[in-house]
Amino acid sequence: MHLDSIYGKLERCLACIREKVDFVPQTVLVLGSGLGNFADQIQVEAELAYREIDGFPVSTVAGHAGKLIFGYLEERPIVCMKGRVHFYEGYDMEDVVLPVRLMKLLGARTVFLTNASGGVNPDFAAGDLMLITDQISCFVRNPLIGPNVEELGTRFPDMSEIYDKELCGVIRNTAKEQGIALKEGVYLQLTGPSFESPAEVRMLRMLGADAVGMSTAVEAIAARHAGLRVCGVSCVCNQAAGMTEKPLSHEEVQEAADKAAPLFTKLVKESILRFS
Ligand code: HPA
Repeated sequence: MHLDSIYGKLERCLACIREKVDFVPQTVLVLGSGLGNFADQIQVEAELAYREIDGFPVSTVAGHAGKLIFGYLEERPIVCMKGRVHFYEGYDMEDVVLPVRLMKLLGARTVFLTNASGGVNPDFAAGDLMLITDQISCFVRNPLIGPNVEELGTRFPDMSEIYDKELCGVIRNTAKEQGIALKEGVYLQLTGPSFESPAEVRMLRMLGADAVGMSTAVEAIAARHAGLRVCGVSCVCNQAAGMTEKPLSHEEVQEAADKAAPLFTKLVKESILRFS
């Protein structure tokens, strides 16, 4: 059991941010691979490095240097989370989901999750964007295990519509309107950091997964627990293990994400502008 309660830690993080920044975001955008430069799209009001926030988990992965970027996307107040921490880095699950919970305390109402994934659905190709319509998270530790954080939500939260149907509809319509091809499907989170074996990928396909990755689903659970509206888009960066002859590498994933970045950026930006 921790000496410091989860909510106590969140309040400390919040106080630390509020000493420096008074911005109240409406939407939180968690930037996955490929969207690292999304902040170029916004009128930046303030930036805060994760390491400046007392108790905020700081990522160790190269290319995931973390900061919060507050600003306006046209008139919309948003905060971008540039860099996230992953369970495979060795953090407790409660630290992995701390940032998303903190965003609720900052005043946000909607979370837009983005990530890179491997395509499990044989109809998906590298570079495809996938609207996340549902998820499978039961291979990773549930982020709500432990004493319930009553201040945030209920002990047994409903998860029958994790990804908000209305927001999904907006993203779907935006893609159509902007001429951006958009797949849809179920995202499945594993712990990583190793990529899957071909047998695991076959198993995941049988289970109903369309894309596999190492983030997002636990953040979505914590966000829903706290009453945030959630949506997400995944950049399918490679076909999952065993679907091609090629071995997988982080470099290949990064390259595909960078290539998809312009369309990914456009879809996310135009969608957020259409959120109610
Ligand atoms: N598997 C898991 N996570 C990933 C993959 C993958 O193939 N590609 C990008 N992130």
